Amino acid sequence: MSLLIQNGRIVSADSDFIGDIFCEDETITRLGRGLEAPPGTEVIDATGKLVFPGFIDPHVHIYLPFMGTFSKDDYVSASKAALVGGTTTLIEMCCPSRADEALAGFELSLSQAQGKSACDFTFHMGVTKFDDRTPDQLREIVRRGISSFKVFLAYKGAFGVDDSELYRTLKLARELGVIVTAHCENETLVAERSRELLAAGVTGPEGHHESRPPRVEAEGVHHLCTFAELTGAHVYCVHTSCAEALDAAVAARQRGVKVWVETLIQYLLLDKTYAERPGFEGAKYVMSPPLRDARNQPVLWDALASGLVSTVATDHAPFDFASQKPMGRDDFTKIPNGIPSLEDRVNLLYTHGVATGRLDLQSFVSVASTNAAKLFGLFPRKGTIAVGSDADVVIYDPAYRGQLAVQTQTQAVDYNAFEGWEIKGRPSVVTVRGEVAVREGKFTGTLGRGQLLQREPGH
Ligand code: URP
Ligand code: ZN
Ligand code: ZN
Repeated sequence: MSLLIQNGRIVSADSDFIGDIFCEDETITRLGRGLEAPPGTEVIDATGKLVFPGFIDPHVHIYLPFMGTFSKDDYVSASKAALVGGTTTLIEMCCPSRADEALAGFELSLSQAQGKSACDFTFHMGVTKFDDRTPDQLREIVRRGISSFKVFLAYKGAFGVDDSELYRTLKLARELGVIVTAHCENETLVAERSRELLAAGVTGPEGHHESRPPRVEAEGVHHLCTFAELTGAHVYCVHTSCAEALDAAVAARQRGVKVWVETLIQYLLLDKTYAERPGFEGAKYVMSPPLRDARNQPVLWDALASGLVSTVATDHAPFDFASQKPMGRDDFTKIPNGIPSLEDRVNLLYTHGVATGRLDLQSFVSVASTNAAKLFGLFPRKGTIAVGSDADVVIYDPAYRGQLAVQTQTQAVDYNAFEGWEIKGRPSVVTVRGEVAVREGKFTGTLGRGQLLQREPGH
């Protein structure tokens, strides 16, 4: 199987040129101009198109038992949705409950993906408790190709760890060279403030933000960074939503803590007024940390452009508006947390980042693909267009115009948080290891072809 992509503008994090890409079997084997196609090669004309490395979403939830229910997508719907939107690699949070052993949790997550996913995938291994049995199991999981952990400083009693567990997890991660991703919010403050708000009669989605204001997140980041400083572990703050939390990470970095920052497409584009929409509509926009005051958005965009924020993820966590969000109709603390966006991240980032001039093309590729590949041990197999890399390629049509809508989406959830939003550009062809998996918005790939990516610890 060979594929020749001709005359595209090939954009990686550190290069930008008009040329051709030749892929044999699963790999990019030649780059240049005027490349010859042997008989039997599929030839795709990319004249006028941008050609990007496959995008990586470094923070998704697909199999997620959470808040008394399960997130809606499975690997069939999620991998199709990812690919239609240009994302060719998923890094899922594997989140065992505290009652489960880490190894069993890992195997359960793997079984959800293998044989179903149309794109490649890996996991951040959730460390949701740390007892005598945990270290050996985590070592085994690292031997099986996982090189990042995940801890939750929130959600105590579910996924959250206490400070002793956090310390031990970070010490082990340091020893193994594993990076630790972290949900940073002070759970005690969240619990106390939620109790006060409910007692005062604030029960709707608008209460969610007041229960976990920016300082609650900043305290979580500071807390994580203190532990990272004293253990030497490398850490990554997931879903950073506000200036206060970013400042805490930057301050830690300035004193030598190895900390990286992720934000989400939701925080760049949506603000807390969405969660304040009347009736119960705001529940569509309840996630943690909450959507913030709009003043934070230019701060996050600037931090992306300057490199203070490394990645834009989705934290895709889809819960139906009709049947799942209403679990918290009378109590905002029971609204399943999450705003789906796996399918739309790349197009929204292109539309509101590149097309507006906030991000140049190199930064766009860096924050949506290359930086995640480098941080999480996937580079240069993923995250770039280079000889020897996997032939995961997005041929992107910047002239496309369309609107996001639940009726036309692939992700398996009953609403789109960006309903009616215009997009300027979309993938016209997406390949997964040399196979065309999307043409003009339609999935054409192979379910079950996605592989668990083997990663080596590099921190
Ligand atoms: O609200 C969110 N973020 N839901 C998914 C779980 C998590 O905290 O990442
Ligand atoms: Zn989280
Ligand atoms: Zn998450």
